[in-house]
Amino acid sequence: MKILVPTDGSEYAMKAVNKAVEMAEKEKAEVTLMAVSYSFSLGEDEFPGSILERLDEEAQKALEKAKEVFNKKGISVKTVIERGAVPANNILKKAEAEKFDLIIMGHRGKGEFPGGGIGSTAVKVVSYAPCSVLIVK
Ligand SMILES: Nc1ncnc2c1ncn2[C@@H]1O[C@H](COP(=O)(O)OP(=O)(O)OP(=O)(O)O)[C@@H](O)[C@H]1O
Ligand SMILES: [Mg+2]
Repeated sequence: MKILVPTDGSEYAMKAVNKAVEMAEKEKAEVTLMAVSYSFSLGEDEFPGSILERLDEEAQKALEKAKEVFNKKGISVKTVIERGAVPANNILKKAEAEKFDLIIMGHRGKGEFPGGGIGSTAVKVVSYAPCSVLIVK
């Protein structure tokens, strides 16, 4: 079984990471951790590259934090970092292109999605995913 675990480094995403570790142990699932670094729709030369680098660093940190949980258990895991303005779109494309069987993600993230409900990335992914989605609460 191939599992995709998108993470923004939030405590909610880390709960999803822990769930994925459990499943990797129990079901010998193959897990890929994915972080989407925010990118602007402007051309890359229209704003300082340092902003992109800073955002990439955040995504890299989120991946490292998640990878560590797997490392501690001695479970191998793949990591991927992408840039995009709408993380859900990257997640959906990846799930489709590489035929993942399951996506595990948090119900909230680092954002300020109003109303205390499920965040917009989670809603979009669960709505359009080509596979099952486990929203961890
Ligand atoms: N940039 C990202 N890269 C990878 N995964 C992400 C990213 N953003 C969110 N996720 C995943 O989606 C889950 C839900 O986050 P979501 O973005 O939906 O909530 P939020 O940040 O609270 O709200 P919003 O982004 O709508 O303001 C996270 O726990 C994480 O698993
Ligand atoms: Mg968010």
